[in-house]
Parts: sequence; C-alpha cells; structure tokens
Amino acid sequence: MKKILLVFGTRPEAIKMAPLVKELQKHCNDFETKVCLTAQHREMLDQVLDFFEINSDYDLDLMKPGQNLYSLTATIIVSLKPILEEFAPDYVFVHGDTTTTMAASIASFYAGAKVCHVEAGLRTHNKLSPFPEEINRQVTGRICDLHFAPTEASKKNLLAENISENSILVTGNTVIDALFESITRVKNLSTENIENIKKSLLPDQEVILVTGHRRENHGEGFERICQALKEISKSKPEVKIIYPVHLNPMVQEPVNRHLKDSKNILLISPVSYPEFIWLMNRSKIIITDSGGVQEEAPSLGKPVLVMRDNTERPEAVEAGTVILVGTNKERIVNEALDLLENKERFQVMSELHNPYGDGKACSRIIDFLKT
Ligand code: UD1
Ligand code: UDP
Repeated sequence: MKKILLVFGTRPEAIKMAPLVKELQKHCNDFETKVCLTAQHREMLDQVLDFFEINSDYDLDLMKPGQNLYSLTATIIVSLKPILEEFAPDYVFVHGDTTTTMAASIASFYAGAKVCHVEAGLRTHNKLSPFPEEINRQVTGRICDLHFAPTEASKKNLLAENISENSILVTGNTVIDALFESITRVKNLSTENIENIKKSLLPDQEVILVTGHRRENHGEGFERICQALKEISKSKPEVKIIYPVHLNPMVQEPVNRHLKDSKNILLISPVSYPEFIWLMNRSKIIITDSGGVQEEAPSLGKPVLVMRDNTERPEAVEAGTVILVGTNKERIVNEALDLLENKERFQVMSELHNPYGDGKACSRIIDFLKT
C-alpha cells in the first residue's frame, strides 16, 4: 500500500485539495492517506476544513501576524523534516504556487519522496507577477515527479520546460470538483452571515462582489482599487458592493480607510467557502485579483473583472468570461459600469463556457496513480 501525504496551508489550497483528500480516503485499500497542514493561514484554512469535514494528521500551526516570506519558507522546510521521517511517504502532494507549496516540495525532495503537483504548469513568465507565486510554481515544477495540469495550455508550458510528457496528466482543475460537490449543499444555506447580507439587500438589488489580496497590488495598487470601488459606489448608489476583506493587514488597512463609510459598500470578514459560493451566485459581476475566483465564476455564469495586468489563466480571457483590468482606476470603473449597463454584453459574457474542468479531476489523478 502506497503512503500519501498531502501538504497545504492556505485557503485556496485547502479548497482545491479537499476533494482529493476525500477521494483518496475512499481508496483506503490502495493508499494510506495523511494530511499535513502548515497553517500558513489559520482562520481562513479552518473554515474550509470544517466545511469539508477534514481532520489533519499533522498541524504545523505556523501562521504569525504579518508573517514574512523568509521565516515562513525556512520554518516550513525545517518543521516538515520530522514528519517526513516519521511517516516516510511514497508520494507527497502539493498544490499550486504558495510558499507552502514551494517549501514543502523542497523538503519532500530532501526526504526522497516522489513529489506530485496539483494545478501544475500555470505560468505568466514574469517572475515579479504574481510575486512570489510565479517563482514558487516554477521551482515546484522543477522538483516534482508527477504534474497534474488543469488544462492543455498548462501542459504546453511544462513541455516547453522539457518536463517529460509521461509525467504530465491533464485533469481539469480540482476547484471545479470542489464547486460541483458543494453547490447542492449551498442552495438553501442559511447562516448568520447570509441572513445579515440578505437583510442589507433589497430583493432585486444588483450586487458587485469584490475580493483582493495579491502582494504585487499592495500599496499603490490597493489605493487605486479602493478609489475605483468608491467611484463605482457613487455612480451606482442603487447597486450594493459586497467585499469580504482578506485578513492580510496590508489589505485590511487601505480597504477600511477608504471604504468603511460608503453607504452602499458592505465590508465583511472573509466568509466560509459555502457562503462565498452563495455570494457569487447572488452577485451580478465579480471584481477580483484571486486565481480561484477566476476559475469558479464562469461555472456560475458570472462575468469577472480581474485586477491584474497579466494572468496565468489565459483560458478564461480567451473564452471571454474574464477581462483583465489591472489596477487602473479608470479601467476598473469603466468596465464595471459598462457591464452593469450594457445588457447585451453582460448576457454574452455570462453564457460562456467554463474552460477549467468537468469536476472529475480527482478521479483522473487517482486512476493515474494506480496505473
Ligand atoms: C497567500 C499566498 C498566495 C495565495 C493567498 C490566498 C504566499 C506567498 N502567498 O497570500 O499565493 O494566493 O495566500 O489567500 O504563499 N492572515 C490571518 N488569518 C488567516 C490568513 C491570513 O490573520 O487565516 C493574515 C496574517 O497576518 C498573515 C497575513 O494574513 O501573516 C498574510 O498571509 P500570507 O499567507 O503570508 O499571504 P497571503 O497574502 O494570504
Ligand atoms: N473564498 C472564500 N471566502 C471568501 C473569499 C474567497 O471561501 O471570503 C474562496 C473562493 O471561493 C476561492 C478561494 O477562496 O475558492 C480563493 O482564495 P484566494 O482568493 O484567497 O486565493 P487565490 O485563489 O488567489 O490563490
């Protein structure tokens, strides 16, 4: 029986690894599966684990307020050593491009485990954007033995780096597995957060949902983002902007300073994953710099404005479900107002097809492992 360790620590990793943990646990005759949390995030991670009913076997509990990349990277590598030695996994699964991903890959390589990368092959080829994720995933790609690429485009990126075709499988993105699994549980969801949001809305009031956290947008980028949101709220007082604010203090500070007094802007704490799906469903358009949200929203028929200059997810831009607006204030305002006013354009964008998967990524990964 092969021993598998999954290592993750941030909210998006947990959402995208949860369906794989569940699927692996169903195959307990073939695999002994354990979960190790770095807890690079604490509250936002625990919300996801509660919803998917995942218990960890190891919890490094590493989050510190305002943590820096140097100590986080070093501590993850050092803290994983005893766990890798005790469990001695055959395979270690990491996901995406966070510091947890890169550091866990290095530690697992040192321990002699085969390293498997879920959501492999995304690239912008700009090492400063997203920072530090582009380098995290390139380093991880170099180390990994098996590469589970979400799309053909991500497979091509890996082939261009001379990664052997035999080690790559195109699976679709596990975020769609998570979404399909969760969506039925969300339909009649009633939580305190949702009831409060409902109370703040008129029955047919249009909603713009906002999220943002990217490091390269910290500072001036977030100043412009907040000014743009303020301008949209003034131009469209009948529309409600709902913004679950990321817990990073570099995000909390400017968002609260600029937006807390605007009448039609509702700033709330990050909501749980099912509440967020409910919110995406309730919204008309989404403005975000998030990777995961770009992948989920097209499945729910929601046009997305992405507050980044480039993207490692070109499929949605090509499909027309996503528009890159950067952190340019005028661009954000103009595109948002146009989508609210131009019914035809909105209709076309909301009916396009999701290029990120069919909800079967995890079963493809497991079939591949078995053979
Ligand atoms: C991290 C990832 C990024 C990913 C994002 C998803 C890195 C370098 N960055 O960015 O790739 O897209 O997560 O959200 O790996 N905090 C809390 N509670 C939480 C979570 C965060 O208080 O549950 C605060 C802490 O002060 C923490 C800070 O947010 O120090 C920043 O967290 P960190 O993981 O360093 O960076 P993110 O910007 O969240
Ligand atoms: N999400 C959530 N609650 C929120 C905001 C987002 O559960 O308040 C989910 C969202 O559905 C998506 C993921 O978090 O699956 C995206 O995480 P984030 O934007 O932090 O990271 P990224 O995807 O950019 O790495």
